[in-house]
Formats: sequence, C-alpha cells, structure tokens
Amino acid sequence: MRTQVGIVGAGPAGLFLAHLLRQEGIAATVLERHDRAYVEGRVRAGVLEQNTMDVLARLGFDQRMRSEGLVHEGVNIVSDAKMFRIDLADRSGKRVVIYGQQEVMHDLFDAANQLGVPIIFNANDVKLHDVATKPYITWREDELLERLDCDFIAGCDGFHGISRDSIPPDARTSFERVYPFGWLGILADVPPAHHELIYANHLRGFALASMRSRTRSRYYLQCDLHDRIEDWPDERFWDELILRLGPQAHISTGPSFEKNITPLRSFVTEPMRYGSLFLLGDAAHIVPPTGAKGLNLAVSDAVMLSESLAAYYRCGIRSTLDSYSDRALARIWKAERFSWWFTGLTHRFPETDAFGRKMQTAELAYLRQSDALQTAFSENYVGLPLN
Ligand code: FAD
Ligand code: PHB
Repeated sequence: MRTQVGIVGAGPAGLFLAHLLRQEGIAATVLERHDRAYVEGRVRAGVLEQNTMDVLARLGFDQRMRSEGLVHEGVNIVSDAKMFRIDLADRSGKRVVIYGQQEVMHDLFDAANQLGVPIIFNANDVKLHDVATKPYITWREDELLERLDCDFIAGCDGFHGISRDSIPPDARTSFERVYPFGWLGILADVPPAHHELIYANHLRGFALASMRSRTRSRYYLQCDLHDRIEDWPDERFWDELILRLGPQAHISTGPSFEKNITPLRSFVTEPMRYGSLFLLGDAAHIVPPTGAKGLNLAVSDAVMLSESLAAYYRCGIRSTLDSYSDRALARIWKAERFSWWFTGLTHRFPETDAFGRKMQTAELAYLRQSDALQTAFSENYVGLPLN
C-alpha cells in the first residue's frame, strides 16, 4: 500500500488532519489501534475554542455543533466562597462552545465514512521505519503483517503512543511537570449548576462545574493521586462538590454514570519533527485540563501541518514544513503557560503553606478587579490566534 501521508492515531489530531488534507487533495491513511466505539466513547474534552469551531465550519461538519453546542460568553470563578464572572466575549470578542469530544469524534467519523477517508481500525503492533528518510509503517491485522509506504508520517497517537519514541533520544528534549494531584470527573443526567462553567478554588481543593447539555452535567474535583474510584461513592462526591463550589452553584444531585480519575501533567517534547515524521497533539504535548486546551491544541497543530503539506505538494515549498515545529511550539508554550498558571491559581498544593495560600487569594482578588488581567485571561481562554 502507498499513500502521501500515513497518520498514526484516529483521535482528534489524526482525524482533523486527515480531513484537512483531504480538503487539500492530499491522500492520507489513518491507522488506529482501537475500534471506533472505543475512541468515540472516551469522555474527555468539553470546551471548543473559536479556532476549533471555525475549522469544523471550514470542513462543513459544524451542523450538529451549531444546533446542539452551548455557546458560552463567560466563565465564573469562585474564591473564598464568592463568585465573579469574566466576560470572555466582551473582553476578547470571541466565544467558546460546549460540545463534548465524543460528539466531535462522532461527527468526524461519520464524515470520514461518507467521504471515504481511509481509517484502518484495530491495527496492532504499529511500527514506524526509516522516519529520517523514506518512511514506511508496518502493523498486524488479523495476524497478517501489513505495510504502508508514504512520503510523510504524522504521529497523532497521543501521550502513550509509539511515534514520539521513534525519534532518537539524542534528537529530542522533553520538558515536564507532574502535579501532585488528579481530577476525579463524573457525568450525571442532572441539570447543570449554572448556565456557564464555574472554576472553584477551595481550601479543600479545586472543583469545576461543567456540562454536556442542558440536562447533562460534567463535574470535577481535585483528588489525591492515590485515590481510587471506590473511595468516591456518589454521596461523598456530591457532598464535597457542594462544599467546594459554594452557595452560588445550584447543584442537582443524581446517580453518576461515569467516573474517572486523571493525573495532571504539563509536558512538551522538542522539536516536533524528525526527518519525515511530524508529531501532533498529545503525542508531543500535554497540558493540565484546567485551561481546556488539549483538544484545541491538537486541532491547531493539524491546521498548521496541513497548510505546510499543502504548500509542499502544490508549489514544492519546503520552508513551511521546516518551520512547522517552531511555529507550533510558539503557540503551544503559551497554552502550556496559561494551563500551568490557571492550575497553580486554583488548586491546593500539598507543599503550599499559609503564605502561599495568601498569595493565591491575593492573585484571585486581583483577577477579580483588574481589567487588564481579565482581558489577558479571556484572550488565552478563548484561544490565541494561530499565527
Ligand atoms: P488522543 O485523543 O490520545 O488520540 C490518540 C489516538 O491514537 C487514540 O485513538 C489511540 O487509541 C491511538 N493510538 C495510540 N497508540 C497507538 C498506536 N501505537 N497505534 C495506533 N494508534 C494508536 N482538551 C480540551 O481542549 N478541552 C477540554 O475541556 C479538555 N478536557 C479534558 C478533560 C479530561 C478529563 C482529559 C483527560 C482531557 C481533556 N482534554 C481537554 C484534553 C483532550 O482530550 C486531549 O488533548 C485530546 O484528546 C488530544 O487528542 P490527540 O488526538 O492528540 O490524542
Ligand atoms: C469539561 O467539560 O470536560 C471541561 C471543561 C473545562 C475544563 C476542562 C474540562 O477546563
């Protein structure tokens, strides 16, 4: 088999890239380790930036997002049991939309079926070969060894994938911060606590009130890294959430039908290219979910690489391929900074003493009253421009 771009991983990075390349007339084949139901079933991101909405619209896959997504013009922050609102639309001219990653993936897979974008599911033991020069990919399908020759490989296989490790260790540098806590997330079919998101800083730890629709809520609590799901029966979760979000959140309780614990990490590997191999999304960088940036960064990587590949195939221009890593990293580091800063501002760190706590409270009080800080917050939250 032969194609122009071999894509490893059918998550947001891989599928957005496949569709954007198709729109440019570039042939791509996607190899995915799991099946569609698995990829689509993962409950992850909920907030789409304006850039991501625009890309879905450009691809013509935005009908459901426009009818079912909830447009938010502001977010709320609770500190010392008092809530204040940041008007994102007023301060940045942009909005975000609440439309779950599961819905985005559903729309991208349906469109791939309709348009004949080749996706090979259940591809086992995927290996990348000769990535510095003339690359090819091998994998096992029903015990048969398959091979795909390509001009370029896009490593879109997430943080635990194989693409990043196909770059020799002496040709890359990684930067990492692991946080001393996790997020316990639940879904429940109860009306959301508020019509917009609420991020809460509480002495007992961070809490977030989000949603998937007007009848489905998504809530998160900062938890201990060693906690297990069994430690958090619904009753304990609701009691803790009500305490941390404070009186302004009107929480309706009910049975949860999904509960998971995610560790928090900041991670970047540089550069995001080695020879004919390009890295995109979580394969190259991870942000703590506080800033709601992960999926959106995967999409902006896909836009940048598709534009670079289009310039190469259309006009033979190599310079944009050569600058892909630097251009992507310039934007990624700013999102890393915002996600790290917002995590530090809203979470309880085991090592924080009384002075550190006062600093957090003072910075939140400053955010509450400062136009400049609220404008900077809004610009980052809705997503910085692509170039
Ligand atoms: P992934 O989604 O990890 O996809 C990688 C794909 O590659 C997977 O399908 C995997 O099966 C496949 N794969 C892996 N290894 C191989 C292999 N060897 N061979 C073939 N295929 C392979 N982001 C936001 O923007 N907003 C939010 O509100 C937000 N909230 C989040 C909340 C939580 C609790 C979590 C965990 C994440 C959140 N994120 C959020 C982050 C977002 O979900 C990720 O950044 C996003 O999924 C990254 O997409 P990706 O395609 O790079 O990687
Ligand atoms: C979500 O709805 O899953 C969500 C919302 C905002 C975040 C992170 C996750 O910052």
